[in-house]
Formats: sequence, structure tokens, C-alpha cells
Amino acid sequence: MNSSVKKIGILTSGGDCSGLNAAIRNVVFAATAKGWEVVGIFDATDGLFSRPMRYKPLTVAEFDFPYASLGGTMLGSNNTGNPHLQRKADGTMEELTDAELDKRFQDGVAELGISALVVVGGDGSMAIVSKYCKKAGISMIGIPKTIDNDAPGTDVAIGFETAVQVVTEALDKLTTTATSHNRVMVTEVMGRGAGHLALEAGIAGYADVILIPEIDYTYEGVVQKLRAVQAQGKRYGLVVVAEGVKNVDGQHSFAGNGKTFRGVSDSLVQKLHEDGFNVRGNVLGHIQRAGTPVPADRLLAAQFATRAVELIAQGESNRVVIYKDGEVKDEALDVILKIANTPVNPTGDLVKTARQLGIYVGE
Ligand code: F6P
Repeated sequence: MNSSVKKIGILTSGGDCSGLNAAIRNVVFAATAKGWEVVGIFDATDGLFSRPMRYKPLTVAEFDFPYASLGGTMLGSNNTGNPHLQRKADGTMEELTDAELDKRFQDGVAELGISALVVVGGDGSMAIVSKYCKKAGISMIGIPKTIDNDAPGTDVAIGFETAVQVVTEALDKLTTTATSHNRVMVTEVMGRGAGHLALEAGIAGYADVILIPEIDYTYEGVVQKLRAVQAQGKRYGLVVVAEGVKNVDGQHSFAGNGKTFRGVSDSLVQKLHEDGFNVRGNVLGHIQRAGTPVPADRLLAAQFATRAVELIAQGESNRVVIYKDGEVKDEALDVILKIANTPVNPTGDLVKTARQLGIYVGE
């Protein structure tokens, strides 16, 4: 490689969402426009820790195939978070010490010849990768993504707008069958600690009840609203529940792995059924993390990617690109790490809008 040419790496980390491929594509295009080279690291940092390393040079030609119009990540991701356990070429696992991980990262970076790494992920991933980057003497720039839209420091993260679209479409579909059968449909959506997805898709999908982790609700409040809806002559009721909401007994519902919330809608459906409602429940699940990225996510990916490449060009490190007050900006990772995840503001505009529409969003 010509030594005047810069080479940068990119990886995706944490739970996937739509728009990750758009971010990768746009980093490649922006870097190529500067005459740089890009290498994609597979499966988050695992691609650098495993031997042989797993990576792929990424050129503009790679995107003749329309990866960037698809969900998922062409580089793979990892949200199980144990870098110490790595798969060997023969398929067996090996356990690495902290020192071995440091060495592998540094050797990997040297072998690839990269001087910067773009991390498309959550702030937790950025914090971990930035430590390795520091020791390896390369810069790290973060691009936030999450369908929960609670990433600290940014008003919006890659993946959220597409998830709102997916959930709204699902609610539209559930509405047609709900109205055919005079039913109440309870739909559980993702959102462990934040109800942005439930709130925005719920309003867009014309829900009657929206339950989010940030606002306490009562079962009586839900019933009262559904009865009122029936009394108004509406033939169906639409309830949207964020998975992180507590169930009617005040408990969280966990999935089989004991870590993920899932199933809170079941207890609600059961209780509504016992109270005489014609009710069905749906858990939308991982379909919310998929689908063609909507233009808003592609635009965000374009703006975040170009900002990330500019920051590298300016010799910056440990910065996160953000979208704040209608503008793309960037902030020091250290500052981002001190900011709490962004919940729904219970007294904010959208909650107010929901209440003004007569939607029950809790007490
Ligand atoms: O953080 C995004 C998210 O989609 C959450 O809303 C959800 O609880 C979680 O990921 C599910 O992750 P997993 O891929 O581990 O099932």
C-alpha cells in the first residue's frame, strides 16, 4: 500500500438494526472519496481477536450488491460480550487472558495497517473498543445505533426510524383483523428501558393505550380506556406495550435466557380475557430490528458516516457522532459515557400529544 494512503477499519457491535449496512456503505464511500482504504472487521471485535483474523477489504465495488438497502449487518455483530472466549479455525473454543486480547488487537491492527476504527454500536461497545484502540495507538470514532433510541447524547440513533415504520405497519395490519373481529389487540414491542418506540409507533398507529417503562400505569386505567372506546362505538381496541413495562402484578417478564424482557403482554391479555374482553396478544420480537432502512435512517447513516470520516481526517479520536437540535455534531466519548441513557420525557411533547388524543399512557 502507498504509505500516504490512509487505511481505516469499521465494525458493527451490539444488537443489530436496520441502517447498519447504510452506515458501512457510507463510511466506505466517504473514505474512498478521500483516497483512503477501508477494511471491515467481522463480528465486532471478534474479527480482530480470533486467529486467523476475520476481515474483508471494503471497496465501492462491494456495494454493487445492494447490502445498504437491507437490514442486518454485512459484517456480523456480537452482543454476548465475552471477548475472552474465541473460536479457533477448527471450530473449538480457546480462552484468552486480558494481556492476550491486548496483544491480538495490537498485532491485528498492525497487520491490517489501520490507523482508525469506526465503531457502529452502543456506548458500551465504544467504551470497550476505545480502550483497545488507545493501547494500539489508533483512533476510535463511534456511530450510535439502537432501535430503543435511548443512546446517550443523541436525539436519534441509527435504526430507530425504521423500527417505528415496522411497528406502525404491524399495528396497521393488526388493526384490520382487530376491527373484523371486534377485538382488542395487545402488541408488545421492544424497549427494555425506554418507551420511544412504543410511544412513537403507538401514536402513528392510532393506539388507544400505550404503556411505557417511564410512566406507571394501572390495570384499571387500561380497562377504563378500552370500555370507553367500546362505548364510543369503536369496534376494536389497540394496546401497545413496551417490553420493559412491569406486568399487572408489578413484575418484569423475562425471556428464556433470563436477560431479555419478553412476555409482559401475556399477563395483560390473560387478565383482559378473564374480564370478558375479546382479546388477542402479539409479540413483535426481532422483526422490529429488520427491514429495508427508511430514508430517514439512510440520511442519518450518511450524515453520521461522513462526520466520522471527517473526524478521522482531522486526527480526532474517542469522539461520538451525534444528532442534536436538528444538527449533526460530535462529542467526546468520555462525556457521552457520563450521560444517562435517554428515556421518554413523561412531561414531554409526545406524551402530551398522546394524552390530548385521549390515548391512555398511564397515570
Ligand atoms: O437494545 C435493543 C434491543 O432490541 C432491545 O429492545 C431488546 O430487549 C434487545 O435488543 C434484544 O436483544 P437480543 O438480540 O439479545 O435478543
